[in-house]
Amino acid sequence: MAMQLPGTDERAKHLALRFRQHFGAAPDGVWAAPGRANLLGEHTDYNAGFALPFGIRQRARVALRLRADSRLLLCSEQAGACELSLADLRGERIAGWAAYLAGAAWAAIDAGARGTGLELLLDSEVPVGAGLSSSAALECATLLGLAELWGLQRSPLELARLAQRAEQRVAGVPCGLMDQLAALCAREQHVLWVDFQSEEVVPLALPLVAAGLELWAIDTRAPHQLASGAYAERRNACQQAARQLGLHSLREAQPEQLARAAAELSPPTLRRARHVLGENARVQAAVELLRQPGPEARLAQLGPLLSASHASLRDDFEVSVPQLDVAQAAAEAAGALGARLVGGGFGGSVLALLPHGMGEALAAGVQGAFAARGWALPQLLEVQPAAGAARVL
Ligand code: GLA
Repeated sequence: MAMQLPGTDERAKHLALRFRQHFGAAPDGVWAAPGRANLLGEHTDYNAGFALPFGIRQRARVALRLRADSRLLLCSEQAGACELSLADLRGERIAGWAAYLAGAAWAAIDAGARGTGLELLLDSEVPVGAGLSSSAALECATLLGLAELWGLQRSPLELARLAQRAEQRVAGVPCGLMDQLAALCAREQHVLWVDFQSEEVVPLALPLVAAGLELWAIDTRAPHQLASGAYAERRNACQQAARQLGLHSLREAQPEQLARAAAELSPPTLRRARHVLGENARVQAAVELLRQPGPEARLAQLGPLLSASHASLRDDFEVSVPQLDVAQAAAEAAGALGARLVGGGFGGSVLALLPHGMGEALAAGVQGAFAARGWALPQLLEVQPAAGAARVL
């Protein structure tokens, strides 16, 4: 009997079957990578700071087979088909979902892999535009598969950097490393304590069930307007603040130092820096809670840290939108212990920490608040820390 790989699931088997129907032969393998959420630590990754991201159950899966020629036949269960050649990867004209797959192939080749043609069938259950890094899931699943099939020996951290290059090139956003690192390194029932200065990743147990708690993502379905330009602008403001403080990054800044320099920084630059320092401190406070023996007794104390993070992202970093603020407030009113926008902002999801069994009350509260404003209803999704990218068939 064939040995079952640890991450094998019914959906991967079904994808292999569909691949065979579509391309007329079995795939060489199936690889999967999760979307990600983030307990705390937003806009800290590109400031050499700290974050606590985790993988979620929803994953992107890619079935891959090498071709002897240079054709790339890309097909998505959700979004159609696209044919390219290896030569097209150097150009910039690929659009939509296929661009992330092509971007991953480009990054692998650019890193020294000898690319060949491919057949690829994609199946992703990570909601798109929800701030849960559906694009990192595609890139990381594809890169992991290509690294194996094209013989590119790289550590998960190095693969994350390649996936980040793909994302930066495709989306044109100077994103940090958090999403790709989370997709590749995530651990079941753990958050990853990432130090983006040393690039050290320490998994910390998040015993939600034992603590009688749940985490939910409220996808506000607010469009990601302004997201890419504003992201680059925030990143520049942080660099500017570090420069004016005479530092390499805001990671090195102390609160007293920022207070002393307050008059020299423009008011928005000061607010951006204040968010980053406060957010790093909140991550470290959460880490203190999680590292003590028996963390389940203390998980509820994470709630106020989440809500403080939201206030800082809204007022100091200014990356929230009305839908995120309304969802955050409605979550608290419905009994959440804390809630905050997750990811880059300007749309996407709010992450809420809830006592077990309160998901329905949360949904009713948030949907009521949206309906009262005539907004499209948000989608709710329970998020449980799940394993990172792996070969699954
Ligand atoms: C996006 C980026 C990440 C990170 C977050 C904000 O998800 O891709 O690198 O900067 O925003 O924390």
